[in-house]
Amino acid sequence: MTNDVSKIEQELLTYLPQGNEPVKTLVSSMTYSLTAGGKRVRPLLVLSFAELCGGSAEAAMPFACAIEMIHTYSLIHDDLPCMDNDDLRRGKPTNHKVYGEAAALLGGNGLLTHAFEAVLSEKAVTLNGADTCVKAGRLLAQCAGVNGMLGGQIIDLESENKQVSVERLRIMDEKKTGALIRAACLLGCLSAGATDGQMRAAEEYAAHIGLAFQIVDDILDVVSDAETLGKPIGSDRENNKSTYVSLLGIEECRRLSRELTDKAITALSVFDTDITFLSSLALSLRDRTN
Ligand code: IPE
Ligand code: IPE
Ligand code: MG
Ligand code: MG
Ligand code: MG
Repeated sequence: MTNDVSKIEQELLTYLPQGNEPVKTLVSSMTYSLTAGGKRVRPLLVLSFAELCGGSAEAAMPFACAIEMIHTYSLIHDDLPCMDNDDLRRGKPTNHKVYGEAAALLGGNGLLTHAFEAVLSEKAVTLNGADTCVKAGRLLAQCAGVNGMLGGQIIDLESENKQVSVERLRIMDEKKTGALIRAACLLGCLSAGATDGQMRAAEEYAAHIGLAFQIVDDILDVVSDAETLGKPIGSDRENNKSTYVSLLGIEECRRLSRELTDKAITALSVFDTDITFLSSLALSLRDRTN
């Protein structure tokens, strides 16, 4: 089943490297954050788009695991003292609180590197073909890199203590959060050999839920509590971050998240297969509490 988070959890374990003695600390650091829970939204998107476009969850699974590794690395680094300096993640002490900054840095790097091992693994190539794995690797690199998530993170840091425009925030959020969500949707399409029209619709869905996702994240930073959220609240205010909430206020953010979610669901109308899961996912991400 595409929406089976426990299957994703199991598969993630199989992709982790062996933690033999000399590198034990590094593998422990990687394993600690990767198995700490989390909603697994990105792998769910990979598997769901693969099935929507007539592919299989089995073939898409290496891509699903890869994107979750990259996402988890981004969280480990995001929490470091030199970035958001947070102590709680996925309901547990952050990686650097347990392993120290150096091992957290390396654990993040390990997950990033290992993601590409998964995409280019024998299993991935056997199930998807070498051409598709090359395209998947290129897409992941682009979405995680300078013009994707990393670019968004530097804009985020450079926007602290400043009043920035909504346009700049949109660009920041499209990159820091939207890019990996876009990659997830497109990786599913790639694995299934989707048509150009299906890829375009997936991109549109991704763009809308991606921006909504970060806006809701910014709202939760203000209105939730650490226990529900599994991460500290008030982190954005403490770091003087520029967010949609700091600029537009909670009510306008809620309106925007509704509007974007509706647009995402409309984008699915191109598909003649069952869109129920992806529509419900968009709504549940809008209404989530963590
Ligand atoms: C948190 O992502 C970081 C953002 C991009 C907003 P998630 O909310 O998907 O975090 P997990 O994976 O469920 O912990
Ligand atoms: C981070 O955004 C997005 C990433 C690329 C990790 P946030 O800094 O708002 O994410 P949280 O709130 O710490 O999860
Ligand atoms: Mg951050
Ligand atoms: Mg953060
Ligand atoms: Mg946040």
